[in-house]
Amino acid sequence: MRKKLVAGNWKMHGSLAENAALLAALKPALAGIDAVVCVPFPYLAQAQAELAGSSIAWGAQNVSEQAKGAFTGEVSTSMLLDFGCKYVIVGHSERRSLYGETDQLVASKYVAAQAAGLTPILCVGESLEERESGVTEAVVARQLDAVIAAAGVNSLSKAVVAYEPVWAIGTGKTASPEQAQAVHAFIRGKISALDAGVAEQLVIQYGGSVKAANAAELMAQPDIDGGLIGGASLIASEFVAICRAAAK
Ligand code: PGA
Repeated sequence: MRKKLVAGNWKMHGSLAENAALLAALKPALAGIDAVVCVPFPYLAQAQAELAGSSIAWGAQNVSEQAKGAFTGEVSTSMLLDFGCKYVIVGHSERRSLYGETDQLVASKYVAAQAAGLTPILCVGESLEERESGVTEAVVARQLDAVIAAAGVNSLSKAVVAYEPVWAIGTGKTASPEQAQAVHAFIRGKISALDAGVAEQLVIQYGGSVKAANAAELMAQPDIDGGLIGGASLIASEFVAICRAAAK
């Protein structure tokens, strides 16, 4: 069986005090359950100090494709490794749409992350307009193809894919389990055509307004292997319930 993995994407939220309370609540409640929290850069040291030795891994929400140098404001893979990161989100739709990250840049970040030994959580997903014009699969395929062209299909054996329909992120409008499953099956099928073994093992998370109340039916879909959780990852009871639903 494929493993299930739930990751929290804290986005630009938190403070030292809020994070301490959240992590203190998560640690005992998630003992024995693999989970990830992707925290803002300044709080990586805190995540490392609080979570070392627990079943919760930590990571970042973005990374530079460059190794080092005159790139003001950027953070490199080796810096993430210095703070014990295991995962890094690449290509989140907010990075793509608000900060102009192209498929090619996202692929470069994915390559850099893997070269450093980090596991990229590669986000893909269509906008509302794209869904309504019937190009969901074409958009997701294009986003995946950029990474496959840069790193090869085998690279996906060391990555996580997160399907996040943009229209479902932070809107309270979750994709129905059937809508999500259809795209997850498309993604797995597309990878399977290139390498069935890689496809079978690939963890494909769903993201977009997942909460405790809808987690169980999403996680029960055959091709949904966990979630990438935004808003609900900031509420300990919600995040714990989602992680437990996935682990069932
Ligand atoms: P949401 O965000 O759970 O708040 O919709 C998901 C994400 O953007 O990763």
